[in-house]
Order: sequence, then C-alpha cells, then structure tokens
Amino acid sequence: MKRLAILLAAAMAATSTMAGAQQADVRPGYHFAPARNWMNDPNGLVYYDGEYHLFFQYNPYGDRWGHMSWGHAVSRDLVHWEELPIAIPETPEVMAFSGSAVVDWNNTTGFGRGGKPPMIAIYTGHNPKAKLQSQYLAYSNDRGRTWTVHGEVLSVGSSEFRDPKVFWHAATKRWVMVAVLALENRALIFTSPNLKDWTYASSFGPAGGRGKNWECPDLFELPVQGGAPGEKRWVLTVNLGDNAVGGGSGGQYFVGDFDGKRFVPVAGWGDQPRWTDYGADFYAAVSYNDLPGSDPRRIWIGWANDWRYAEAIPTWPSRGLMTVARTVALSKTADGYRILQAPVSELAALRGAPERAVLPLAEAATPLPIPGGKAEFEAELDTGTAGQLTLALTDGQGWQTLIGVNPAVGEVFIDRTRSGPHFHDGFANRHIAPVDLKRRKVKLRVLVDESILELFINDGEQTITDRFFRGGGPLSWSASARGGTATLNLTTWPLQAKGKGE
Ligand code: FRU
Repeated sequence: MKRLAILLAAAMAATSTMAGAQQADVRPGYHFAPARNWMNDPNGLVYYDGEYHLFFQYNPYGDRWGHMSWGHAVSRDLVHWEELPIAIPETPEVMAFSGSAVVDWNNTTGFGRGGKPPMIAIYTGHNPKAKLQSQYLAYSNDRGRTWTVHGEVLSVGSSEFRDPKVFWHAATKRWVMVAVLALENRALIFTSPNLKDWTYASSFGPAGGRGKNWECPDLFELPVQGGAPGEKRWVLTVNLGDNAVGGGSGGQYFVGDFDGKRFVPVAGWGDQPRWTDYGADFYAAVSYNDLPGSDPRRIWIGWANDWRYAEAIPTWPSRGLMTVARTVALSKTADGYRILQAPVSELAALRGAPERAVLPLAEAATPLPIPGGKAEFEAELDTGTAGQLTLALTDGQGWQTLIGVNPAVGEVFIDRTRSGPHFHDGFANRHIAPVDLKRRKVKLRVLVDESILELFINDGEQTITDRFFRGGGPLSWSASARGGTATLNLTTWPLQAKGKGE
C-alpha cells in the first residue's frame, strides 16, 4: 500500500513537472480542433448518409506545418465533431494538399461498389522532389473511413497548381473543377464527365486582391435576396496568402455568372477586393458538397488562422482551429451584391437559458451578464452621443480584447493589441470593418469560445473573425461608452457542446 502511494506521488510529481513545462490550453467548447498536432485548411467538405465530413490539412507528426495528410472528423449536426483516423496520409514522395470531395451518385468514375456511390476526393499531390503540384483522385467505399489513391488525374506541369474544388454542374451535366495557379493569381476552370479526364475550360484573374499567391478557390450558385424575381448568381471565392484586409492571409469574393465553363463578374464589379471577413483569422473557407436536397443552404467552414503567425500561436497540444459552420447567402441592395454569413442554426441547440438586459453605457465600465469562456450574444447598440463604444473581454490578469464601434468614422473593430502576452509581431492588431453607422444603430452577434471571437455585424453583412490568447484566469465582459452615452440591448446565452467530440 505504502509503496503504491510513493509510486503515485512520484508519478504525479513527474506529470506536474511536464505540465509546468508546457501547459495544455483551454480547449474550445464548440469549435473543431484536432486532439493534437498541426491543422490548416478544411478539405473535402461533403455530406453523405447522415454525416457531415470535415477533412483537413494535418501533420500527424508535429504541431508545425509538414507531412501534409488529410485528417478527418465527422458530425451529424455540424456542431459536435468526432475525430477519426487519418483519411489520406502523405506518401514518401507526395504530400496530400488541399482539395475537395464529392459523392459520385451516378458512378461516373466506376469506383462504386455494390450499387453504392463512391466518395471521391480530388486533392493536390505536392511532390517537392519533382517540383510538381498536380491533382490526384482517391476514392472511398466505406463512408470516407478508408481511401484508395487512384493517382494523378490532372497536371499542367506547374509547381504551384493547387487546391481543386470540384462539384457537379447540373445544367451541363459535367463535373467542374476550379483550382489556382497560385503565383499567377489565376483560377483555372476544367470540366470532366468522370472526374478522371479533365478538359481546360477557362481562366479567371488576376483580379481584385492580389498577393504572393492565390489559394483555395470555391465556386457556387446562390439565390439573390432582394434581387430580380428568381435571380441567381455565382460566387467565386479566392484566398490570398498575404496582403489581405486583416494584414496577412484572407479571403475575397466575386459575384457573377457561370455557364459551366467560364466565370464572368457582374457588370461594374470593379477591381476593388471584397473581403469575406475583416479579421485576420478566416482563411481557406470552402463550402459543402452534396448537402441533402431538402437543405437549400450553402455552408462553409474556414481555418481560423493567418499564415503570418500560424506556426507561432501559443496553443498546445494542438495547433489549429476551424470556425463554426456558417451559412453563406447573397443579397443585393443599392450598394450592389454582397455575401451574408451567419452561424448555422444547429448551433442554437447549445444555448442555455437566455438573459436579457437593456443597459445604459457611459465612461465607467458596466459588467455584462455574459458567461466568459463559451457564449453567444446579440448586442443591439444605439450609439447615442458616444464617440466610441467598447465591449471588453478581460482575462484574470487584465489582458483585454475589445469589440469596438466608432460611429463618427463608420467602423466596427476588434482590437487585440493587448489581448495577451506577445508571441508574434504580426498578431497585435486592430481589425476594422466599414459599417454605415449614420443611423446610430448596429447589431452585433458574437460567438466566443475560449480563444476565438466570431463577430457577425448587421445580420452578417460583415464579419470579423479573430483569435486571442489570454494571459491567464477567467474571462469576463464589460461595456463602456466614451465621450457621451449609449444604449446596449443585450441577449446572451451560455453555449456548451455536449457529448461526443466535445
Ligand atoms: C492554404 C494552403 C494551400 C495548400 C495547403 C498546404 O493554406 O497553402 O494552398 O494546398 O495550404 O497545406
């Protein structure tokens, strides 16, 4: 007995020394992060037989980028995720870079078995020795659990040709692929009858935001809210490796028409980039294929990170986080077309009892009844006579991340210049979304989950997605107004994921 106690004490001492050396961070409650190691882009988002698949760029061997393989998680509700074993590992020659997945309902590939359609992944094989990036096909006959690599299906002989997004184009009864010639800032479109033989169709770009590379394109059709009766348009999204609005990597979009071969922006779209998000941490977002016919939504997930500091963020034992699943819609107003984003409605299942409060704001900080770490709230703000309004998220050591509203200059921002101890020069920044505040009103919907803020402004007309890394201690919210008074109409819910994949 005594011996056991001594052994136990020794073991505990050993564990606490290890923990002292590197402390596991607080895991997010309802955002997907792998249990350990490095993760970047979401890949192969596809729905099949009751499951939403989330594959992702994954390093099985460490918490920095490398050995890129497809990690895998599934969900039945887009909220609770279960991490599964690696789906597509790197091979000695070829890493499995980003790409997409489809269900081949008509078995155009011939890889179906027993009358069941195969799941097909089309992704970039990155061969550093050959200096080649080309598109590969792999298939699964067991709901994405195991994969057989068929091999390369499309090469243009480039070392920077990647990130194929493939989907079925019903009108032309063809598969369509959009992929990038990254350094040229061009998106190439190809078509295929069988996902194996691809024909070049057209090229788009450079256009809008340019940078050291374009990455991870997507192309989908949406009905236009507020448009002509029955109007639909196509949205082309392209990510920029640097030079985006948040200061590093980020996403932009174009709205136009697509005939199965060529994407053409609507007249007057111009060359000014339109950003998918104004924060620093929304990258490589791609949307689901094959959502059930009864679900008209377009849903995407982004990687909540920025290539500038992605490998330096102070988290352990996993490094990499996805945003929540978001709907993407398209609206048309006097200002033209714009996308609207919202967290998927399934997330409401995590809400605890709401609390409501109407609070006058002034210089002195008013504590807010928002649970610190994992919460959702809606803040309807009347900016009154105030020059600036801030909602401050403060940790136990006094580090603060601010959500701010500046009526005079028409800005909503997240300021994380003092959100935690310094770890990278590119991190401490203020990220601004332009918002019309002339009528002194703005509606903010905020998701907070330990180290991430997802801010949806005026029903998702703009979003700001930012991570923050606190110094320590519990998080609490307060609000204040400078240079006058303002009113906050607040509804808040605790959010907690339950069960599997927590
Ligand atoms: C985007 C990206 C892709 C590439 C992948 C590699 O973040 O650079 O272009 O396929 O990551 O992990």
